[in-house]
Amino acid sequence: MIAEPVLTVSGAVHAYGGKPALRGVDLVLRPGEIYALLGPNGAGKTTLIRAICGRIRPDQGEVLLKGRDPTRVAGARAGLGLVPQEIALYPNLTVAENIETFAALADVPRAGVAAAVRRALDLTHTIDRADVPIKHLSGGYQRRANIAAAIVHEPSLLILDEPTVGVDLDAREAVDAVIRGLRDLGVAVLMTTHDLDQAGALADRVGFLRDGQLVLEGEPHALIAEAFGARMEIQVHLAEAVDAAGEARLIAEGLERTVRPSVWTRLEADGYAAAGPLNERLREAGLTPREIRVREPSLANLFTLVADRKLAA
Ligand SMILES: Nc1ncnc2c1ncn2[C@@H]1O[C@H](COP(=O)(O)OP(=O)(O)OP(=O)(O)O)[C@@H](O)[C@H]1O
Ligand SMILES: [Mg+2]
Repeated sequence: MIAEPVLTVSGAVHAYGGKPALRGVDLVLRPGEIYALLGPNGAGKTTLIRAICGRIRPDQGEVLLKGRDPTRVAGARAGLGLVPQEIALYPNLTVAENIETFAALADVPRAGVAAAVRRALDLTHTIDRADVPIKHLSGGYQRRANIAAAIVHEPSLLILDEPTVGVDLDAREAVDAVIRGLRDLGVAVLMTTHDLDQAGALADRVGFLRDGQLVLEGEPHALIAEAFGARMEIQVHLAEAVDAAGEARLIAEGLERTVRPSVWTRLEADGYAAAGPLNERLREAGLTPREIRVREPSLANLFTLVADRKLAA
């Protein structure tokens, strides 16, 4: 039996002063799934989250949390926990004191607060820092403490806006592990991220929002397989910066820029066979690849296609 949705967004439309930000968004989340909302700046991710949290009411369409409208039914919002992008904790209070404060704000019955705080500390692996003021913690611990504060009232939907901003690489794993643990308990998790590696590793489903519309949605591996088939990504890592002539040469080889200036990319049906000759041609042209990698296309490749309107037009 498929569980009832925790969240149902249907036909959500929203404009700010006549300027559309959401243009008919449908989204369904069920217990125990992690959904990553992706999209370029200004795509409407935060607007959608605001609508889900009941902070704005869509001009058209509706948002239902377990069947109830969060802008009309105050109780509907009790099923929701929000971890905003900026850490929203009291810096001078300890982790445990912060969680207690949030428990009170979320109307956790007083008799149950101690157990609820303990549970939140356990689930977020912050118990070893329970008595440390927030301001003395690393970015990773602060983020997990913020998750603890957001789940103390046991919401069925947890929303995280950019959960790994300001968290270094090692600590990201710890944040990811906490999110997975909550998913395994049956919490539905909706997150936005610009970290496509994180989305690929963590999300059961991803959705690409572009100009206020969800243009592509599905399980990461299935989407990648559908878009790229057997093609592989060839990544050229250059040893030094290239001049205009060098760039023209790379472009003539069908290579495209990535976010990193020294890394260029191309998709190729027979990636392994093509990489060697490509390397030789680039060297003959005076360009010096430090490394050429052949790998399966990633969500980053897919994201580029969608953002550039080469897919899901
Ligand atoms: N309070 C506001 N008033 C007017 N326009 C707004 C407001 N908030 C967002 N917008 C506009 O609505 C559109 C969607 O913005 P939104 O913040 O939802 O995008 P986003 O996907 O969260 O972007 P980012 O990745 O930069 O956080 C943008 O064009 C933005 O300029
Ligand atoms: Mg945003």
